[in-house]
Amino acid sequence: MINKRTIIPGLAGIVLILMFLLPTGRAMEESKAGSLVTKTCAACHSTERICKKLDKQDRKWWNKTAERMIKRGADLTPEQKDLIVQYLVDLAPGSEPVCH
Ligand code: HEC
Repeated sequence: MINKRTIIPGLAGIVLILMFLLPTGRAMEESKAGSLVTKTCAACHSTERICKKLDKQDRKWWNKTAERMIKRGADLTPEQKDLIVQYLVDLAPGSEPVCH
């Protein structure tokens, strides 16, 4: 039988699970983006070049720049590019692993 006694603990359980999963999902995306930057973007130039632009440029600029890098030869899928752009837009200046 479904009644308040089963629904409320059930909902509380779901909320707890979501609270646990959401931040981990985000942290995983971030570390994936971080290692893409250090592996793929650092193939041609130091990440210092990227570090210098943190917090100085908007999403449009990062997207344009990432697309230019792909034209130059950066091996990234459109999804990986979007992930990196989102990551770099949000990243605080001076943050590892982009800055040392
Ligand atoms: C195939 C080589 C290559 C790869 C891979 C590469 N870049 Fe570049 N990058 C360049 C070259 C060449 C320049 C200098 C010429 C220019 O700005 O287009 C540059 C310049 C830059 C600049 C300075 C732009 C400016 O206007 O000052 C940034 C920021 C940058 N790259 C970010 C990235 C990011 C982020 C990635 C990964 C998504 C990446 N690069 C991957 C070759 C590459």
